[in-house]
Amino acid sequence: MDEKSYIIITGASSDMGAALSKQLLSAHNLILLDINENSILNTVSMLKSIDTQSKILYFSIDFNDISAVGKTFQDFLKKHDISNISGLVHIAGIAPVLPLKSTEIDDWYKIFNINLLSAVEIIRVLMKKQYKQSMKSVVLISSVAAHFGVKAQIMYSVSKAAIEAFVRGAAVELAPIRVNAIAPGRVKTNSMAVFIDDTAEKFESKHLLGSGSAENIADILYFLLSEKSSWITGQTYIIDGGVSVNALMNEK
Ligand SMILES: NC(=O)c1ccc[n+]([C@@H]2O[C@H](COP(=O)([O-])OP(=O)(O)OC[C@H]3O[C@@H](n4cnc5c(N)ncnc54)[C@H](O)[C@@H]3O)[C@@H](O)[C@H]2O)c1
Repeated sequence: MDEKSYIIITGASSDMGAALSKQLLSAHNLILLDINENSILNTVSMLKSIDTQSKILYFSIDFNDISAVGKTFQDFLKKHDISNISGLVHIAGIAPVLPLKSTEIDDWYKIFNINLLSAVEIIRVLMKKQYKQSMKSVVLISSVAAHFGVKAQIMYSVSKAAIEAFVRGAAVELAPIRVNAIAPGRVKTNSMAVFIDDTAEKFESKHLLGSGSAENIADILYFLLSEKSSWITGQTYIIDGGVSVNALMNEK
């Protein structure tokens, strides 16, 4: 019998998803979800070149098609006869640059679907009796943008703030399953959150420890999935190289 539990990673083909998958690989089986099938396949072949023992399952899914997410996910688990799932990390996210006056209601629905509601739908499946018993930890990704205003990123900030409220409520309802979030500052990834002008460089320069790497984020996600964080739930950890405590952050 395969003793390794499964960890589900959404946004698995992102740099953070790939870095976390690498760290988890020897101890866990993985289920990787992303919209971009080619990128997932690249991540899977990278992982298989490191470890041939762990199971790596994957499927492409568009989280904006929110009414189908729960059923598609549950059908996948049934098809592969999976029940031993111990963790979920929701990395998938979008960060459109759009001033409030230019936003349409569908833009708001889309960002909420991808950044939060897809995770809600997956968690609702994982709360079913056959999956719930093995579940230990859920981690979502917020952003420091949830904590202050960023020009033309109001939808992003609001969707990430909702994640932080969600982890508090879900921690209360789902205990002893632990539910936490991290709120990164600027992380150097392939497709970092974009800004409307030269704000990116200015923002980056305010990080006391410089901008972060996907590995910095994967380390904290790994910790929050592990038993080392067994007394932590309902929290959002700001992991931002010190930008949010920098009193000079707003200086020109
Ligand atoms: N990079 C940063 O500076 C930074 C800072 C704070 C928070 N974050 C958060 O970290 C996460 C990863 O960010 P990143 O910078 O690596 O960006 P990224 O664009 O590389 O990663 C996002 C992932 O989500 C997937 N995705 C997008 N739309 C999807 C959809 N409709 N359905 C399913 N999957 C979809 C993408 O394919 C991608 O793999 C995001 O949640 C982001 O908001 C990033």
